[in-house]
Amino acid sequence: MKQSDPTGNSMRETLLLVDDEDAVRRVLYLKLSREGYRCEEADGTEQALHVLETVPVALVLLDIKMPGKSGIELLPEIKEAYPDTAVIMATAVNDVDIAVQCLKRGADDYTCKPFNLDDVSLAVQRALHKRRLQLELREYQQFLEEKVEEQMVETKRLFLGAIEALVSALEAKDKYTGGHSRRVTEIAVAVGKELDLSAQDMEDLRWGSLLHDLGKIAVDQAIQNKPGSLTPEEYEHIMTHPQIGARIVRPVVNGRIADIIEHHHDHYDGTGLHRIVAGNAIPLGARILAVADAFDAMTSDRPYRPAMSRKEALDEIKRSTTTQFDPVVANALLRVMSR
Ligand SMILES: [Fe+2]
Repeated sequence: MKQSDPTGNSMRETLLLVDDEDAVRRVLYLKLSREGYRCEEADGTEQALHVLETVPVALVLLDIKMPGKSGIELLPEIKEAYPDTAVIMATAVNDVDIAVQCLKRGADDYTCKPFNLDDVSLAVQRALHKRRLQLELREYQQFLEEKVEEQMVETKRLFLGAIEALVSALEAKDKYTGGHSRRVTEIAVAVGKELDLSAQDMEDLRWGSLLHDLGKIAVDQAIQNKPGSLTPEEYEHIMTHPQIGARIVRPVVNGRIADIIEHHHDHYDGTGLHRIVAGNAIPLGARILAVADAFDAMTSDRPYRPAMSRKEALDEIKRSTTTQFDPVVANALLRVMSR
């Protein structure tokens, strides 16, 4: 909080008095210091800019007519570099047009020369009061924006937590896929690190991996757990889960996460079901997820076959590189798994 003297003036705000005449500055200095303001002086543009650079100034009392650069020229420079600094222009009585020009250029007020010191004092009080209100308003706006942002983060966290619980519940129903999404996430994150992904891409990859099979909620359980091989129709039915999963999460997560989920079964050479994108048109997160997902699926028991060994799974990934998997991503997984 700012301190106030008994008359209510701020004790801490600094005023900058700019006038080429020493006597004028002296009179202003005595009057305004006595009223509790801290006053700095400048005899021209150059000195004024120097003070502004070194001291936080709340208000500039700026003479218009000075040798060299005039106050009118200096005004926009001050407003541009120090938008929170109030400026009162000092004009000659017969210069009303100039005063209006100054207001248009961003001056907060003007006062006429020769000075009536009480008028000057009132103009300073008014301009500082307006400035304080503006600063408080902006602070409040920032506070509100931060609150809204916090609330959004919290809502998203709660939602994603709930979805995560749903994924666990889905997997718990099925003895073959228990823990699959978590394991896939760990592998995908390790590959993402190996490929030096940005923090944002890593976060998207983590959520995409965790939620990638959410669409299986709409898949017929009997088909999913069918021992033996699937008919083409059954396979097509199961392969609707990337689109369904993406559709479920799209309203609440960013589009990149939904895209990772939607494309996680796309083949690098474009031969995957349902999708026609190929190569690098498949989001990088989805290409990483595809390899991580395949590795975990192959090394887990399935109703139609027992788990492969780690080496067999890695050999299979090597074989499917450039057809099903992006070679850069597949090689990153092979490096991660060889450690
Ligand atoms: Fe999947």
